Amino acid sequence: MTNKELKIAYLEYESMEELNSQDKSLAEAAVNATQTSYAPYSNFNVGAAVLLEDGEIITGSNQENAAYPSGLCAERTAMFYASAHKPDKAMLAIAIAASQNGILCPDPATPCGSCRQVMAQYQTKGGRPMEVILVGGNKIWKFSKVDDILPLIFDSL
Ligand code: THU
Repeated sequence: MTNKELKIAYLEYESMEELNSQDKSLAEAAVNATQTSYAPYSNFNVGAAVLLEDGEIITGSNQENAAYPSGLCAERTAMFYASAHKPDKAMLAIAIAASQNGILCPDPATPCGSCRQVMAQYQTKGGRPMEVILVGGNKIWKFSKVDDILPLIFDSL
């Protein structure tokens, strides 16, 4: 028996002003996308912004439904749109933000497991690392690839 350990490294920023201009634009797009969220049940407004390799930014927001499982998270709304409309463009980064009552949540918005799995798939499809930027009002976390938020990725099929 051997003890094994997994470590992840990520960057923490105090505010969006600290980000480089490309990351700042993506983070701002995610924050703005929270305004298009349709979340009458949770009142938790999530926005996501995907950066494509040609520089285009695709945004999405969570869309809820009275039949709860029929709704979709912001991240998957954005990624599915991106892959459906620009299937040949790798997704280089995704930024995520959440707000409640019109105020950006102070802690970084952390994606659910299903969205992480979908990110992993599109990272593989694109053949390039997808950066993940989790935006909060008090701090921002930046991961250099999806593997860092989804260790031991399932992609065996
Ligand atoms: N939600 C997202 O949009 N992204 C996530 O990663 C986690 C949760 C949405 C789904 C639902 O509309 C609301 O947040 C509350 O769970």
